[in-house]
Amino acid sequence: MTDDRFPFPDGPLSTQPPEYARRRETCPMSDVTTPTGDPAVLVLKYHDVEAVMRDRRFSRDLSAPGTPRLFPSNLLSDDPDFLMNMHGEDHRRLRRIVASAFTPRRAEQWRPEVRRIADDLLDRVEAEGPPADLMAALSYQLPVRVICRQLGVPDEEGDKFQGWVAAFLSVSGMSMAEREVAAGEFTGYVEELVRRHRTAPGDDLVDQIVNARDEEDRLTEAELVSLVRGLIVGGNETVANSLSRCVLTLLSHRGLWDDLVRDRSDLPAAVEELLRVNPPGRIGLLRVATEDVELPSGTVRAGQAVISPLIAAGHDPEVFPEPDRIVLGREPQTLQFGAGPHFCLGVHLARVELQEALSALMDRFPGLELTAPPEDLPWNRGGYGITLSSLPVRW
Ligand code: HEM
Repeated sequence: MTDDRFPFPDGPLSTQPPEYARRRETCPMSDVTTPTGDPAVLVLKYHDVEAVMRDRRFSRDLSAPGTPRLFPSNLLSDDPDFLMNMHGEDHRRLRRIVASAFTPRRAEQWRPEVRRIADDLLDRVEAEGPPADLMAALSYQLPVRVICRQLGVPDEEGDKFQGWVAAFLSVSGMSMAEREVAAGEFTGYVEELVRRHRTAPGDDLVDQIVNARDEEDRLTEAELVSLVRGLIVGGNETVANSLSRCVLTLLSHRGLWDDLVRDRSDLPAAVEELLRVNPPGRIGLLRVATEDVELPSGTVRAGQAVISPLIAAGHDPEVFPEPDRIVLGREPQTLQFGAGPHFCLGVHLARVELQEALSALMDRFPGLELTAPPEDLPWNRGGYGITLSSLPVRW
């Protein structure tokens, strides 16, 4: 008898859980039991996962009593005012308020600043090493500094974000009491930030959101605080996790690293392919069907919960032959930033961050190498994503 307890253990080096590959072949839509004891349907084929992400009949709003849940208590899923947990018109209303700050054009305008931040961080790495822990010195630092510039927050204040974000995404690594303390501090900080911007308005992203409330009455105060907090949560661990996974995969595929050191023109394609092979998450978010929905592999009934991991979609051999092999320029473009109504708001900025950080790293340390075999690297498994605890390198 198979064990239906979800989530399943990862493969080596935090790769796709082997159970995904097994089930995709034998039963692409299967029943699992979440850590809350709720039943859910697990979909693993690319076209099913894509359909779930795009179809508005699947809702991220899990607030109704009795709705299935993924984890017993998790700050990410428990906040009904969080963009990611909203559905329908309310969700569209909030996205419209911040959409103009996240266009491809705006992301390109950030590119030189992102590169400057990466170079500054690497100045410090170079001065203090070798060796160095790139997780602490680059991967965690870069996105926090970028979001600080965007929101109009001094760098010193950003230093507190990492702990708060970890508490927000934690599902088992911290006690509920610890998470609640961190959440209280985080909310208190954002409320204070909003107060500061009300007293001394500027033209940062926080001012844009405050204006939408004070001048145009387009969102509530609770939504305002959640939106600012959500931008800090959404843009930090995802980038930190992805950047370190990209470096790890490239250093384990030395030929590809060396090719990119010589010629950077394939770097954008490499980033997309690296995210397909090794995206930050193994699980994905839970959605609930608001009515019966026909997917390519079968029917999901109204009220049923669905789990649609992006890493499973990215390893579907019917869409990506030899899915573990890195092949630049594969089509279709993968789903690593999601699709449909909750498509990653920060996708263009995230791409700029990953491309610039990797490029800065290749310029600075073309001979970069790991100081330990990849299989000895430590992973942190207490959160939604599984992150490297450290990425030790020398040059
Ligand atoms: C490599 C880095 C990143 C990856 C892989 C990533 C991935 C994703 C994915 C897959 C989703 C959709 C989840 C779902 O529908 O189930 C998402 C949503 C989101 N992302 Fe990202 N993301 C990244 C960086 C960022 C950045 C830099 C920001 C912003 C500063 C950001 C902000 C958000 C927000 C706010 C949402 C929720 C959107 C909504 O619910 O409407 N992300 N991200």
